[in-house]
Amino acid sequence: MPSEESYKQIEGEWKDFRFRRVLPADYEAVLDHIAQNYVRDELTCKLLGWTEEFAADVNKVVAQFLPEGLSFIAEHIPTGKIAGARITLHHTPETKFVSLTNRNAKLFFKLVNDVEELADVTNKHGIDNYIEFFMASTSRDFRGQGLVGEFYNRSINFLKAEGFKHALVVVTSPHTKAATLKRGFEQQSRLDYDKFMDFDGKTPVFKKEDLTPEDFALVMLKTL
Ligand SMILES: CC(C)(COP(=O)(O)OP(=O)(O)OC[C@H]1O[C@@H](n2cnc3c(N)ncnc32)[C@H](O)[C@@H]1OP(=O)(O)O)[C@@H](O)C(=O)NCCC(=O)NCCS
Repeated sequence: MPSEESYKQIEGEWKDFRFRRVLPADYEAVLDHIAQNYVRDELTCKLLGWTEEFAADVNKVVAQFLPEGLSFIAEHIPTGKIAGARITLHHTPETKFVSLTNRNAKLFFKLVNDVEELADVTNKHGIDNYIEFFMASTSRDFRGQGLVGEFYNRSINFLKAEGFKHALVVVTSPHTKAATLKRGFEQQSRLDYDKFMDFDGKTPVFKKEDLTPEDFALVMLKTL
């Protein structure tokens, strides 16, 4: 588990929000936040289409990594609501996600995997042990106030204090693309959504007419 000294780098108040680690008592509320905010609005999830089963399967993976103690929430102090969540995992060569049953959830993680394979940071840079910023999510009510940017600032300080050397993130939102570039992350790969293929490797998952030129995922990498 991370040290109390490291947690001091991320925990505390900022504007109307309190940043703090996710505790076991928060798991249910965090999973609900992810289902209702991330899975409804993240680009890939939105294109695939929200269902309860899809959200539940995505959350099996989130639940797998919460006990690592690397995930955080921002609480809105006046209401006590979760305003944002930052789900993070420590990726090692042994990391393996729980198996899933929902087709959309499998496709969602296939997209993540495909763009990470294109980046291939292990063979290209010899990096096989890194932090993965797995999900950034701000509640619909609190977007556009700088929360995700502040999560990045605090998370980077926290991870440096923990001695991690590299942070990787797959970004799909214009906001997180901007926020990572601004903080010195460098692009490693790009997957345009019209080139995202189904499990057969040859059928496009999305119809061209449903896509815009903004619909692409990037792997961004930062040396901490
Ligand atoms: C993406 C998401 C997390 C952004 O959260 P947010 O708290 O509203 O974001 P912020 O207010 O911190 O803005 C982030 C950055 O986007 C930039 N930004 C604002 N409007 C923008 C726009 N229209 N296009 C591009 N960047 C923009 C801001 O400058 C800000 O950077 P800075 O604070 O470093 O200056 C939120 O919309 C969300 O939860 N979406 C659904 C889930 C999702 O897509 N998650 C990210 C997947 S990679």
